[in-house]
Amino acid sequence: MERRMTVHQDGNPIYDIVMSDSFGSLATEVAKLAVEGRRICIVTDSTVAGLYLEEVRERLAGCCKEVVTFVFPAGEENKNLKTVQALYETLILNHLDRKDLLVALGGGVVGDLCGYAAATYLRGVSFIQIPTTLLSQVDSSIGGKTGVDFDAYKNMVGAFHMPRLVYINVKTLTTLSQEQFSSGMGEIIKHGLIKDAAYYQWLKDNREKIMARDLEACADMIERSDEIKREVVEKDPTEQGDRALLNFGHTLGHAIEKLKNFQMLHGHCVGVGCIAAAAISQKRGYLTEAQVQDIRETMKAFQVEERVSGVDPAKVVAATKNDKKMDGNTIKFILLKEIGSAYVDRQVTEEEMKLGLEAVLE
Ligand SMILES: NC(=O)c1ccc[n+]([C@@H]2O[C@H](COP(=O)([O-])OP(=O)(O)OC[C@H]3O[C@@H](n4cnc5c(N)ncnc54)[C@H](O)[C@@H]3O)[C@@H](O)[C@H]2O)c1
Ligand SMILES: [Zn+2]
Repeated sequence: MERRMTVHQDGNPIYDIVMSDSFGSLATEVAKLAVEGRRICIVTDSTVAGLYLEEVRERLAGCCKEVVTFVFPAGEENKNLKTVQALYETLILNHLDRKDLLVALGGGVVGDLCGYAAATYLRGVSFIQIPTTLLSQVDSSIGGKTGVDFDAYKNMVGAFHMPRLVYINVKTLTTLSQEQFSSGMGEIIKHGLIKDAAYYQWLKDNREKIMARDLEACADMIERSDEIKREVVEKDPTEQGDRALLNFGHTLGHAIEKLKNFQMLHGHCVGVGCIAAAAISQKRGYLTEAQVQDIRETMKAFQVEERVSGVDPAKVVAATKNDKKMDGNTIKFILLKEIGSAYVDRQVTEEEMKLGLEAVLE
């Protein structure tokens, strides 16, 4: 299996997303980036290191001068400047220079952190993404957003820095926990809802294969989701306009995530946020009650959360106010005109948000 798409910026090809069911063509793809005689630093976390580091290291050793590795403890709590600092130290001690390459091997935490280090080390070095979670394969590895958390503030420090290659080995999905897999499904269902009703239907029709992690079905799904993300980021690389549509489900989802102290996975919060935003779209007369119910059933069928307990709706609404999606004093709320078509609405009131939350809070 090998699939490929190219991400462009201003009409110019910037990087390829290559999808395979092994790491078999990784060295060939990396060799195209002129790394012969160069050093490579593989950045990964403690969980992924135990699963895939050895194979990736061996494969890359053949196409460059030296492979260095940097492993940090898995978990969002380590996506911070302290870990970045330790990584800089490894890079300096191993003499990595401007023309060398960083490799992010792991989920979104590794990708964001390694990408940020690549954006800033020596004012920017090349990096590639090897995403190993479903969420990172359809979302965080594409688009060039990198960054780390600062104290309790998520993604507060960051940079736009495009990868030179995204290499997806769909087989890595087979070792992922069910919870992490369904978290990725939250973002994937969102892709269908905002851009492609036929894809949303396809997801429902192929649920069994997807949940059984049939590799062909997963590859078809990742390919379509990446296509949607690619189109959006190509049109709007620095999030001035259309890219905001990807935030469907995120205004309330993020707020719930915060109030739950990040104990609920991101994609699950997004799923809940999508249902609440769909309920607001229904109040506006865009969706029918049956369609909102269908979205809820779909989330449930893919084991994405569809209800949350123990959070106060007034606090959720208050928490949306310091969301980064604020623009001046208005929130850029994303609603659905219909299934497969999203738009930015700047007039969503606190009352409407509370009504939307009624659909998901218990
Ligand atoms: N840059 C962006 O555009 C963007 C977009 C969305 C999310 N993000 C960021 O992504 C992060 C979340 O990413 P995530 O959901 O991938 O979490 P993660 O990177 O923490 O990975 C989740 C867990 O799965 C483990 N894991 C990874 N791959 C595995 C595999 N193949 N088999 C078994 N275990 C594996 C990890 O070690 C980790 O414990 C957040 O920090 C979020 O802010 C960034
Ligand atoms: Zn998200």
